[in-house]
Amino acid sequence: MPTPNTALFFARQFLAHPRRVGSLIPSSRQLVSRMLGGVEWARVETAVEFGPGTGVVTRALLARMRPDARLIAFELNPEFASYLARSIDDPRLLVLPMSAEHVADHVDIQAGGGCDVAISSLPFSIMPRAVRGRILAATAGALKPGAPLIGYQYSHAMLAELRTAFAHVAVRFEPRNWPPAFVFTARG
Ligand SMILES: C[S@@+](CC[C@H](N)C(=O)[O-])C[C@H]1O[C@@H](n2cnc3c(N)ncnc32)[C@H](O)[C@@H]1O
Repeated sequence: MPTPNTALFFARQFLAHPRRVGSLIPSSRQLVSRMLGGVEWARVETAVEFGPGTGVVTRALLARMRPDARLIAFELNPEFASYLARSIDDPRLLVLPMSAEHVADHVDIQAGGGCDVAISSLPFSIMPRAVRGRILAATAGALKPGAPLIGYQYSHAMLAELRTAFAHVAVRFEPRNWPPAFVFTARG
């Protein structure tokens, strides 16, 4: 559970930027577990995260990742990016205050060979279509062959576009979140 201060900060960011934040409260523990539960974390050297917000997914990722692994988080909202840099002290984490559209450039620089997994909390269905297309294309280019993009959405609205960018897309439902969410896993 977020602390009251964190919850208030998150809600204020939603009220200031509703279409970018996409949700009034952070993801539930159950939704985070459903997103991260199917990954073999011992094999992950480099992970990327899109839209960490106040870090509920980020902390769960770092708890699962190896001591020598690397997590590169892309956060468009500078308030969230600086909150994360202040509140999570972990040398494995690099927070980049920019759009996930830039993932391919930074994964090349940081990892050399692509990333093993991409975890998204982005509100894909309410962002401009062109931005969504650039993020999906850049992510497909940044992932190692067969590596997954895992994320959640509150509807099936962007499934068709996901299926255009990735060869295999699986979807599961997680009711224990507000709002209830669909977790997708997409692989090239
Ligand atoms: C629904 S919140 C998710 C926050 C947190 N990960 C969670 O699950 O509770 C969506 C986040 O995506 C960020 N965001 C929106 N568009 C983005 C983009 N193009 N690139 C990176 N972050 C973005 C927002 O600023 C916000 O932090």
